[in-house]
Amino acid sequence: MKSIIITGGAGFIGSHVVRLFVNKYPEYRIINVDKLTYAGNLANLKDIEEKPNYRFVKADICDFDTMYTLMQEEHVTGIIHLAAESHVDRSIKDPFTFARTNVMGTLSLLQAAKLYWEAQPEKYEGKRFYHISTDEVYGALEMTHPDGIEPPFSTLASSEHHEAYGEDFFVETTKYNPHSPYSASKASSDHFVRAFHDTYGMPTIVTNCSNNYGPYQFPEKLIPLFINNIRHRKPLPVYGKGENVRDWLYVEDHARAIDLIFHQGTIAETYNIGGFNEWKNIDIIKVVINTVDRLLGREEGEDMNLITYVTDRAGHDMRYAIDSRKLQAELGWEPSLQFEEGIEKTVRWYLDHQEWMDNITSGEYEKYYDDMYGKR
Ligand code: NAD
Ligand code: TYD
Repeated sequence: MKSIIITGGAGFIGSHVVRLFVNKYPEYRIINVDKLTYAGNLANLKDIEEKPNYRFVKADICDFDTMYTLMQEEHVTGIIHLAAESHVDRSIKDPFTFARTNVMGTLSLLQAAKLYWEAQPEKYEGKRFYHISTDEVYGALEMTHPDGIEPPFSTLASSEHHEAYGEDFFVETTKYNPHSPYSASKASSDHFVRAFHDTYGMPTIVTNCSNNYGPYQFPEKLIPLFINNIRHRKPLPVYGKGENVRDWLYVEDHARAIDLIFHQGTIAETYNIGGFNEWKNIDIIKVVINTVDRLLGREEGEDMNLITYVTDRAGHDMRYAIDSRKLQAELGWEPSLQFEEGIEKTVRWYLDHQEWMDNITSGEYEKYYDDMYGKR
């Protein structure tokens, strides 16, 4: 039997990974370790919280003693590490919290796993420490628009897309060049994970994924924030000229990649995860406005006037774009959803789960968990 700690399971991506593992592997024991920061919300896991193979532990990954004791108690054989501070704008205001959780928290988990696994007779055999990271560690790409290629770039199929753009993508060997406190902290944590493999032989894997979208994303991030603002006819703050490019992947496709890589990925390897789906912010915003309007029975495009250009984010990376051909070729992963389908599903989900959204925006969800688990 596998006993797996998933950290950050009450967050956006973590909740999808926990749900997938709990449902798909009833024979595994899944332990969700989450501190329940402002971004953690157990309502994301309501449908699986009673499953017999699931346990929730409210804990801080920086708390080495608790991590070590939990690994001993649960005979942990695998760790899938997603817990992090994840929002770039917050990292600009409060870099210390990012260094603490993303760097020291990762180190605390690594060291606990090292001491626990090295004390076992079989040592690292059958063990795995899988660290989830971001494409933002690679820095920013130039905006290269070959002749005749106009946005939205998503209309191009992946291989054509790649041919059109040549090598101007993040590949697994792209040199790290982080610009924000968030990406600097994630880069640092990636280095620590690789150092634990190289120094102690820990069986580690690192993946770097592009921007995720889908249900249960905290509404400080572009897509859920804008869906909610359009619904309530509130301004949509577009940073700078809205020309920055992000590469969007549906969150369940990321979770499927994590499952595949956890089970079949090669130790010490890095895999980039992305769906060749680049969009300029302003283009994606227009798609979101049209979709929300249509699904709410408004005239499509009626809410374009909510677009409000605001001061640019400091150090705003121009373009992210992932080359995921290694993962596709070696493990046969590919994204399941076309972007148009994914965004329609996503908008529909947020509109159908207004209570989930209202609980967050009103702060109700925090009060509920404060009562259950003590003040955050
Ligand atoms: P999120 O902010 O939605 O969730 C983070 C979770 O971690 C929350 O539940 C929070 O309570 C928990 N957490 C924070 N600090 C903790 C601590 N000290 N101890 C224990 N738990 C703690 O983040 P997300 O968007 O789901 O991202 C998850 C991971 O995936 C992160 O490591 C992030 O860097 C990475 N990632 C995210 C994206 C994206 O587009 N969202 C893309 C690529 C990689
Ligand atoms: P975000 O969802 O914060 O993800 P990341 O910064 O990790 O890529 O932002 C996505 C893009 O949208 C990014 O280029 C910043 C931009 N953005 C806005 O223009 N306005 C907003 O209110 C937010 C939150 C983001």
